[in-house]
Amino acid sequence: MQYIFKNSPPSIAALLLQCAAFIFILLTVKITGAHASPLLLAWLCGLLASIFSYFSGLAIWWLLIQLLFAPTLVLMLGAGLPPNLFLVAFLILVLVYWGTFRTQVPLYLSSDKVWHALERVLPPEQADQRFAFLDLGSGLGGVLTHLAQVRPDGSYVGVEAAPLPFLLSWLRIRLGCFHNSRVLWADMWNCDLSQYEVVFAYLSPVPMEKLWLKARAEMRTGTLFISSTFAVPDQSPHETVPVDDLHRSTLLIWHM
Ligand SMILES: C[S@@+](CC[C@H](N)C(=O)[O-])C[C@H]1O[C@@H](n2cnc3c(N)ncnc32)[C@H](O)[C@@H]1O
Repeated sequence: MQYIFKNSPPSIAALLLQCAAFIFILLTVKITGAHASPLLLAWLCGLLASIFSYFSGLAIWWLLIQLLFAPTLVLMLGAGLPPNLFLVAFLILVLVYWGTFRTQVPLYLSSDKVWHALERVLPPEQADQRFAFLDLGSGLGGVLTHLAQVRPDGSYVGVEAAPLPFLLSWLRIRLGCFHNSRVLWADMWNCDLSQYEVVFAYLSPVPMEKLWLKARAEMRTGTLFISSTFAVPDQSPHETVPVDDLHRSTLLIWHM
């Protein structure tokens, strides 16, 4: 199925479809005068939202989210949990996932096997010569702090848009005394890539085409652009490094 909400992110489309299913069920109950438990109505609402989502071309995992959303809501309300708990959980999720509904790049972390694979593709050590490394969307700073430890001849910069991961990675760098690393709370699209010998990205399929254009426009000849796992449409990498981790990650490397 083709995605039909071309100008809206999937999260907004999913919410609209969930509302449409809810209105449909509500009108049906009103018109027919049918009686059913709130949980049964919630399951019907979820089922209908999933069907709408399927025909709207949403990705497969959205169908499951749509199916479970209303029944989970009813079950949670029935559990009588304190309302503040929901507020706190919501705020934590907002601080971690920040602009994900817009960027479609959520937080998930590279494995330590990816960190080790990265180690091996960094520029070779040379006396009196440092290299600059940028992690676009640096998450909790694991890539930066690992490389800063094993290759102290580099300068490591992370850029992270979500406040809580930024804060945690900032603390990790501060408390760990990684003097050759820093993390910026910023939007990666405002970064100047010409400053770096290595630019690393572990994002999602969505921004790769735009990011490739930015890298081509800004990165200097002889530098490295590395994407973990996510390909650039129509651009074969010059090297690939398969990583034997849980996600079957691959480093895709371009010599600019
Ligand atoms: C898949 S995680 C990768 C984390 C880390 N680089 C690693 O390999 O473990 C992607 C991160 O990019 C961040 N992000 C997404 N869009 C961004 C943007 N426009 N500017 C800065 N960070 C962004 C997300 O908040 C998320 O933390």
